[in-house]
Amino acid sequence: MKGVILAAGKGTRLFPVTYHIPKPLLPLANRLTLEYAFDRLREIEVRDICIVVGENEPQLRSALGDGARFGLSLSYVRQTHPQGLAHAVGFAREFVDDEPFVLYLGDAIYSKGFQDHARRFVESGCANLNLVQWVEDPRRYGVATLDGERIVKLVEKPKNPESNWAMAGLYFFGPQIWEVLPDLQPSARGEYEITDTIQLLIDRGHTVLAGIYDGVWYDSGTLDSFLEVSRFLINNGRIIDPTARVKAEIGDAVVIGAGATVECTRIEDSVILPGARVKIDGEIQHCLLGGTVFSEDPLKDAILYEG
Ligand code: TTP
Repeated sequence: MKGVILAAGKGTRLFPVTYHIPKPLLPLANRLTLEYAFDRLREIEVRDICIVVGENEPQLRSALGDGARFGLSLSYVRQTHPQGLAHAVGFAREFVDDEPFVLYLGDAIYSKGFQDHARRFVESGCANLNLVQWVEDPRRYGVATLDGERIVKLVEKPKNPESNWAMAGLYFFGPQIWEVLPDLQPSARGEYEITDTIQLLIDRGHTVLAGIYDGVWYDSGTLDSFLEVSRFLINNGRIIDPTARVKAEIGDAVVIGAGATVECTRIEDSVILPGARVKIDGEIQHCLLGGTVFSEDPLKDAILYEG
């Protein structure tokens, strides 16, 4: 099985940090975000991976190269403009050829692997298997209606969800996807949706299965979710790179990258990027900071990168 990782987005919700460092390369617990995807894909013996990139192509290529140092073979295709997940996946058509593949969103982090789901997808011979999870409020997700083990209907971010089964952002596809993709129409928000693609597979009589995911999954796309996944990965503790210089009381959930200098009264629940120079007269709380950041006031809930 091959792998496709979508990493072409602009990462606007993490501006201005993502002006300087593309979201897929942001360090989480001092590893690149995409390294967590690589771990999960290696676990299911997926080593031949195509990364769909955008304007971030030069940075991604130079940081990840041919993938040899991760034990993988990486190739890259460029999505012309970010117009949705289904639009992005179309660029991987030539790479995938007619093989089955797993589709991974570049800013997703999973606490547990998908070995059982990968096996079930291959053994069932279905057109598509998607991870789903029961959530209290599914309105911000793609929502699946299940009939036994099959998905019979999918709606993207419904106001009145028919079920609590949220799509968990990981998809296994057979070559049937390439038959339906050309017929896909943009959604009301102007994007080519992966949920609409799967609905087309269902409508044309293909077997689409649900795989219930019993781990925890995060996306790193907002300040809150970025810090939440960081907290999870460091188990609420702290990682201070030995080359960082810190003059501050250090609270819970703090990551300070290599070569950073940090001066403040106290820091907690924050990530300071490698090489940052941070001097704050007061506390730093719930922040993602990089570049040069000086302030005479305490910092709370901030994403800053002055450089
Ligand atoms: P999103 O988080 O929806 O988009 P984004 O990364 O651009 O962030 P923001 O909304 O803050 O601007 O995308 C989820 C993943 O899918 C992410 O890894 C980027 C990728 N993606 C593409 O590769 N192409 C696309 O057209 C879109 C919309 C996303």
